[in-house]
Amino acid sequence: MAKNADYMHGLGANERALLERIPLLPLRKFAAGMVRAKMRVQFTGWLQYLIPIFPMLLLFLLAGITHLFKISFLVFIFSALGCLLGIIVIFDLVTVKFQLRFPEKLPQRNDDLDLFDLMRARHSCRSFQTRKLTKADHTELMTSIHTHLDEPKIGKAPIRLEYISAPLTVWPVVNATEFLIAIAPKKYDRHAVIDVGRSLQKVVMDATRMGLGTCWIGPGADHASIMASLGERFDPEKDHIICISAVGYKSNYIPLFIRAFNAQASNSRLPLSELFFADTTFTQPLDVHTAPFNRFGRNYEICQWAPSSYNGQTTRCVAVTDENGELKSFDFYAATASQYYAPVALGIWSANWEMGSEALGLEGHFDVRSEDEGENLPRVDLSWVIDKI
Ligand SMILES: Cc1cc2nc3c(=O)[nH]c(=O)nc-3n(C[C@H](O)[C@H](O)[C@H](O)COP(=O)(O)O)c2cc1C
Repeated sequence: MAKNADYMHGLGANERALLERIPLLPLRKFAAGMVRAKMRVQFTGWLQYLIPIFPMLLLFLLAGITHLFKISFLVFIFSALGCLLGIIVIFDLVTVKFQLRFPEKLPQRNDDLDLFDLMRARHSCRSFQTRKLTKADHTELMTSIHTHLDEPKIGKAPIRLEYISAPLTVWPVVNATEFLIAIAPKKYDRHAVIDVGRSLQKVVMDATRMGLGTCWIGPGADHASIMASLGERFDPEKDHIICISAVGYKSNYIPLFIRAFNAQASNSRLPLSELFFADTTFTQPLDVHTAPFNRFGRNYEICQWAPSSYNGQTTRCVAVTDENGELKSFDFYAATASQYYAPVALGIWSANWEMGSEALGLEGHFDVRSEDEGENLPRVDLSWVIDKI
């Protein structure tokens, strides 16, 4: 265990959890070294463009090997694919890294979408246009921040969303220059972390309605550069950065690696039967299509498609009924022991649930459930108690 602590030093909880799944110690140490090297390179802003070079070199190697064996059609295929990849890498470098590109149009607003379609339209944006937010969009975004920060919170500790305009290097997002920084007190407070998820998600949805691209960034954020940009707005004695969100106009120039990343990270979710349950042992999936649960319509879907770090989907929900089968509450649980990203994800679900319920005209309120502070997982954090449906 002591050895583990040594070679895992400096790695985040997600990376540690992944590495611990590797059975052989030497392999695990090698993988830890690779992860650490990747972390060093990722904040230089070059890794996104370097990664496709490896398959390109492999294709040229294969072309060379098949040439030795005189299999000419394979030589042609491998060389052609290698050249194609090379052209794409150069195109990405020129248009994205060096920003030599045609100007792009401002995206359309999404005012025509209802809340549920709007939530489904949101996806992480990892490549941004080079222009800054217009004055009107900036003002509207600041109004959204103030509105949602002023709303009643789950916890008692204060949270902040600071706006910065700076070319931070974040992973793997490219060309983002405007960010919202979510800050909670340095002394750990789980409810403040839930509040960060809940408030920032409401701002993210307002930004989506405005037609802006957003990307939550947690493990991919370099805290040292964020603190430097915040200057006097950050007090290392009192403040803790929970996560950030890039915000800006989505670009159509998307590097190959980010296209692949988006496809892998964005397009899959656990089925509802693995997220919503009718019992606290999480064995009986909730039948969301029958009464009384079907009153909540697409609420289930918008929670299912909520963002979470590494698409970990760590939130679960249990519908609580009384002895007459009458619906009393929906209880929200964190499925992992993660101190930050699981409560942030739960906060995001709670925001989606709340906004969805309001759109459906269903009334309820959140109660904090702090009785379950043991090690048991999933652990309950919040109840949405039904007032009137
Ligand atoms: C708290 C949190 C942290 C995240 N951190 C990162 C990150 O560091 N880099 C990144 O590219 N995406 C990050 N994401 C975005 C997730 O990868 C994304 O939400 C998830 O893959 C689902 O895809 P979607 O947002 O496109 O629906 C984060 C999301 C959350 C909620």
